[in-house]
Amino acid sequence: MKPIIIVVGARPNFMKMAPIHDYLTSKNLPLVLVHTGQHYDENMSKVFFDDLGMPQPDIYLGVGSGSHAKQTAQIMIDFEEICEKNQPSMVVVAGDVNSTIACALVSSKLNIPVAHVEAGLRSFDMEMPEEINRVLTDRISNLLFTPSTDANQNLINEGANENSIKLVGNIMIDSLLNNIEKAKKSDIHNKLNITKQEYAIVTLHRPSNVDHRDALSGIITSFEKIGNEIPLIFPIHPRTSQMISKFGFDERINKITYLKIINPQGYLDFLALIKYSKVVLTDSGGLQEETTALGIPCITIRENTERPITVTEGTNTIVGNKPENIINEWKNISKNKGKKGKIPRLWDGKTAERIGNNIIEYLKES
Ligand code: UD1
Repeated sequence: MKPIIIVVGARPNFMKMAPIHDYLTSKNLPLVLVHTGQHYDENMSKVFFDDLGMPQPDIYLGVGSGSHAKQTAQIMIDFEEICEKNQPSMVVVAGDVNSTIACALVSSKLNIPVAHVEAGLRSFDMEMPEEINRVLTDRISNLLFTPSTDANQNLINEGANENSIKLVGNIMIDSLLNNIEKAKKSDIHNKLNITKQEYAIVTLHRPSNVDHRDALSGIITSFEKIGNEIPLIFPIHPRTSQMISKFGFDERINKITYLKIINPQGYLDFLALIKYSKVVLTDSGGLQEETTALGIPCITIRENTERPITVTEGTNTIVGNKPENIINEWKNISKNKGKKGKIPRLWDGKTAERIGNNIIEYLKES
């Protein structure tokens, strides 16, 4: 039997693929786990395999960082060889990172069916590299696994074949539910000397926020204010720490009354940090969903979101990157006037099973 290739590359891929890998393994399907190496630091990659109990990759491409073209091209060159050697029955990609589009494109040119996990999300902002990756990956995928009905509608609007769209729910929530009890045992709060419910978590890494001096400066202004009122715990992305130094903002950051910069955290410690936070300030995609699932108010420092259900049903508020808007929403939340939200449909921990069964069905029919 030909194997199914499962692709991971960057941090947000690992928690999406772990439950799918697990489910397909339980069905005795031959799998090849390929890690492109887009993220390669121990705390951006290896720790997630350990925390999620995911087996080591069968193949590691080690492509590392580079411009979009270099990174995407290198993944394509290496991944083509892997496909030719392994002759997979299907390639499964997730999310919207460069590894996703690179591997989907290679597979579709080799006429290998592609399954896209987290299909149909749209920010409608083509300046985001991820939006380009999302639109193109969906266009060439044979199975489109969507997390919510807005994603189905986006795909239909773009003329996707309705038979290929499968509403399966949110895969991130499978990992969250599988691991939350373990995460609750984390001793990260002792390590950081912080009190549960009395701190904010901050994450920031989008080029639109951190690669532009004025945008980053404005966001730091909001931290200067909010950091007087609540401890800010900031697991910093490598891109962001580089940009803070490049723009000469280190001293401003150091002077903030209570802002603690820490290394990127593993999955379990980070889940524990979100679960017991008062609020999350972020520009991440996945965190908008994780906070909704955990009922934690989320201030999203972006102009738009590809995950609108977190706003309409969940705890998420989109505020952009102007300091006054970030501060105003914090004021609401500090007075416990933040959104309460509910858990969207099919965020039930059974998404991997639905994806796996659809893949098995597809391969039987083809
Ligand atoms: C990538 C994804 C983004 C996702 C994010 C999660 C794309 C286009 N972007 O952005 O959608 O939200 O991952 O983290 O795929 N670096 C390290 N160590 C690492 C990885 C990166 O130091 O392990 C540094 C390098 O200097 C690199 C920079 O971070 O140039 C950016 O990495 P890159 O993979 O290009 O994009 P991210 O910003 O991580």
